[in-house]
Amino acid sequence: MEVVILKTAEDVAATAAGLVAKLLGHTPAAVLGLATGSTQLALYQQLVEKHQNSGLSFAKASSFNLDEYLGVAAENPQSYRSFMDREFFDHIDIDKQSTFLPYCAENENPRLVGPRYEQQIRDAGGIDLQVMGIGVNGHIGFNEPSSSLSSRTRVKTLTQQTLKDNSRLFSRDEFQPKLAITMGIATIMDARGVLLLATGESKAEAVSQMVEGPVSAMCPASVLQLHERVTVLLDEAAASDLKNRDYYDWTYQQNESLKSRFGVFHD
Ligand code: F6R
Repeated sequence: MEVVILKTAEDVAATAAGLVAKLLGHTPAAVLGLATGSTQLALYQQLVEKHQNSGLSFAKASSFNLDEYLGVAAENPQSYRSFMDREFFDHIDIDKQSTFLPYCAENENPRLVGPRYEQQIRDAGGIDLQVMGIGVNGHIGFNEPSSSLSSRTRVKTLTQQTLKDNSRLFSRDEFQPKLAITMGIATIMDARGVLLLATGESKAEAVSQMVEGPVSAMCPASVLQLHERVTVLLDEAAASDLKNRDYYDWTYQQNESLKSRFGVFHD
């Protein structure tokens, strides 16, 4: 796990956008794994800016989102489809037909969505880079604590904590979904690379459990310790509970110097 601690949330977004742009530079038809949530907003803004001002193209790329609410129509502004269109896809040149979320249509059996989504990911050749955030409780996607570390895309019930964390996004009398369809932990682990962004003090404990705690279903993100290619981008606040902080900074400096001597070291 490469842990990179940057000063601010803006630095996290800019660095993440640089890595996504680099991937698209050498693999224009990259398959991106994407997420919703507040942390990703600054990244999408940076990528839109790169598209509009520096010619970054997504025309050949495709994308798979981690999750989607169950029981919320795609056209509903609260759906993750709407979020992605509004915050990102509507402002870049990606072909919307190549953007996927694990959506369950109104009269569809939700149990069929997971296997279909897994097949769609396989048909696309697998995910090159899964970009994501982390929940205050250590969830990735909507894999809440105690999720099977071998899980695949399926229906999950959101925890009270997640409902509370996300309640800020719903008005008082608006329906807040309690179920979602999410990529499983094994699905995420199949991605060839993972880029996890965390900012703000509220994430500090989950980040320390993910990076320095035991691998445990109680902190689903900790399973990333078993993935070969993970970069974790943190701002100072999200890194504030890490015990091994000096070593991460030291490693980052060494990697930067290797990069300047030998070109790209960590891809
Ligand atoms: C969203 C998702 C979630 C979020 C996480 C952090 O698609 O998969 O795991 O990444 O809840 O959300 P924010 O960034 O809003 O703190």
